[in-house]
Amino acid sequence: MSSQNSQTAVAVAHSNIALAKYWGKADLELNLPAVPSLSMTLDKMSTQTSVTFDPTLADDTLEVNGRMATDSERRRVVNALNLVRQEARTGLCARVQTQNNFPTASGLASSASGFAALILAARAACGLPQDTARSSALARRCSASAARSIFGGFVILERGAESAKSLTPAPGFDLDLLVAVTEEGPKSIGSTEGMEHTRRTSPYYTAWVNSAPTLFAAAKDAIVAGDFARLGPVVEQSALLMHASMLGADPAIIYFSDATLRVLHAVRRARADGLSGYCTMDAGPHVKVVTQPSQANELCEFLRRIEGVQRVIHCKLGPDASVSLSAEQ
Ligand code: PMV
Repeated sequence: MSSQNSQTAVAVAHSNIALAKYWGKADLELNLPAVPSLSMTLDKMSTQTSVTFDPTLADDTLEVNGRMATDSERRRVVNALNLVRQEARTGLCARVQTQNNFPTASGLASSASGFAALILAARAACGLPQDTARSSALARRCSASAARSIFGGFVILERGAESAKSLTPAPGFDLDLLVAVTEEGPKSIGSTEGMEHTRRTSPYYTAWVNSAPTLFAAAKDAIVAGDFARLGPVVEQSALLMHASMLGADPAIIYFSDATLRVLHAVRRARADGLSGYCTMDAGPHVKVVTQPSQANELCEFLRRIEGVQRVIHCKLGPDASVSLSAEQ
């Protein structure tokens, strides 16, 4: 560890939503994905995290959105810090403060932006040189989707890959994503537990893993070609196939709530009337709708009127994660 070891580093990482989904691990221990995924980073949803390694601390401390962290939040952050400590060859404990600019209590995924910001800030606070591939690889160990939040724009995480990368050349293709925050469903099963349960018990898991590369390639080609009419159906199919693999598990994993299905049906009906949006859902009840910028405002209003939708967050493509060093706090 360098002489910069008591500096505070502050990182900002943006959340991302997979257009071609990741669900399943090729290696549980190393957290390597069993399928390739492709995401878009979101401008409106981000996490800011500050990290200071402090020789006076006996334990790592963690504050989340201004409150003391729960035990399980703290455990996952300590594991992430351990990866950085190992790389920097230090045993110092850290003070971590993290803040989401979207309500964590709403059940919106914060692990992607959260672990990306944490790894970036912790590596910088240790004086490690900036290295996006390395940061993405460490973030992936904590949460594979976090590997993608190191980068802005459209991002790829290949099957079995250590780190994510930007889709290059950066396509000149604009896409909006509307997050329909729905009423909560039953308490969610964590993604790692959900993936392993699906792998062990669902006869549809193999079908999902075999189909995912084709959907990934189709999504990538459609983005590169700037072809929304081709991309939209693939996005929806990837999400529904992933959820189908979970529905086939024993017992079934059902992340959908009544409101999830209401939004899904309404968006499919709206397409018949020329309002073109396609749905994707993750490990929770909210629905994210991809659309073209020209129809985004109208679709936003449409989503707000659906029973069970509490609010809609209108996102565009977001930037790379960033980090800066500041005077000690
Ligand atoms: O990165 P994890 O372990 O939180 O898993 C994310 C899984 C999904 O959000 C459901 C899909 C994805 O590709 O982000």
